[in-house]
Amino acid sequence: MSGSNVLETNLTIEQAADLLRKNEVVAFPTETVYGLGAVATSDAAVAKIFTAKGRPGDNPLIVHIGNVSQLESVVSAIPDTAKRLMDAFWPGALTIVLPKHASLADNVTAGLDTVGVRIPSHPAALALLKKVNLPIAAPSANVSGKPSPTTARHVADDLSGKIAGIVDGGEAHIGLESTVIDCTADPPVILRPGGVTKEAIEAVIGRKVILHEPSKDTESTPKSPGMKYTHYAPKAPMSIVKGDSVFFQHVIDEAKSRTESVGILVTEAHKSTYNADVVISMGNDAEAIAKRLYDALRAFDAHDIDVIYCESFNETGLGTAIMNRLLKASGYRVIE
Ligand code: TXA
Ligand code: MG
Repeated sequence: MSGSNVLETNLTIEQAADLLRKNEVVAFPTETVYGLGAVATSDAAVAKIFTAKGRPGDNPLIVHIGNVSQLESVVSAIPDTAKRLMDAFWPGALTIVLPKHASLADNVTAGLDTVGVRIPSHPAALALLKKVNLPIAAPSANVSGKPSPTTARHVADDLSGKIAGIVDGGEAHIGLESTVIDCTADPPVILRPGGVTKEAIEAVIGRKVILHEPSKDTESTPKSPGMKYTHYAPKAPMSIVKGDSVFFQHVIDEAKSRTESVGILVTEAHKSTYNADVVISMGNDAEAIAKRLYDALRAFDAHDIDVIYCESFNETGLGTAIMNRLLKASGYRVIE
């Protein structure tokens, strides 16, 4: 599949809009990651998303709109807090969970009575949504379990031949998914940290929100029999290393003494600090790391390695989302 020709499936906005109206699924760029879209009012169209991704039917999809005027066809109520968040962060990387409208296909929300909705800021996404003028359900355009796609090439590597085409908008600006906030709860709950930080949300609404912390108990453990809740995972098992550079090298050396081939994921500044078989670096500040993280995780799959060790990052601002994804990608294995 990798090596497939992106140009074969590269769509104009007009072609993508036509295909969506014909209940086909197409991938399109957003400022967070690429999405795999289908008309959210069609059960049959939405079903094609689940099939193409191999996504479990109990995982609800985010609905994308091009204009706030479309909200009334997607949600049935807009609490004041939600309104303030929309004013502050839309278009942008914030998905707001609200009571759903009856016109949405049931499979969009996996049978829940709530729906996650956002207006993306990427010009190509906005142009497409405005052209179709219907709400578009769109999860990240990856095969379920793999890192989200931040380029059209990533989408093609995962879904070529399984979808009607891709709108190529270059590299995603943020590189991590939107923040998902449940505004049916009071105080609101961040279900997934992402492109909009908890700090920024609290500044807008003037009070604290709750950050739902996924844990190895609720999601995945090395002992867990299934892979059901594995996300973003490279093929080789990954662990997060907490400690100084001496400890990190010690962990690498121990693995090497077991004759394992070791890959490491580090900041640009630490590119030459360690002795390992494969070194992949991601930039230094949180923005740069977020932007390159999924590409870096995908890049390990091209190498024949037995284990991956990754540096740990501060959990403030965008760092919260980065560590959330790394913990999931590593199945919550942390060495300290
Ligand atoms: O940045 C993003 O959000 C990207 C782009 C394409 O918009 N989309 C994305 O979708 O990441 P997906 O399907 O990969 O992740 C959606 C997340 C899942 O964790 C899902 O469980 C949660 O949002 N979600 C969606 N609807 C929900 C609802 N009604 N209640 C609670 N969680 C919901
Ligand atoms: Mg996803």
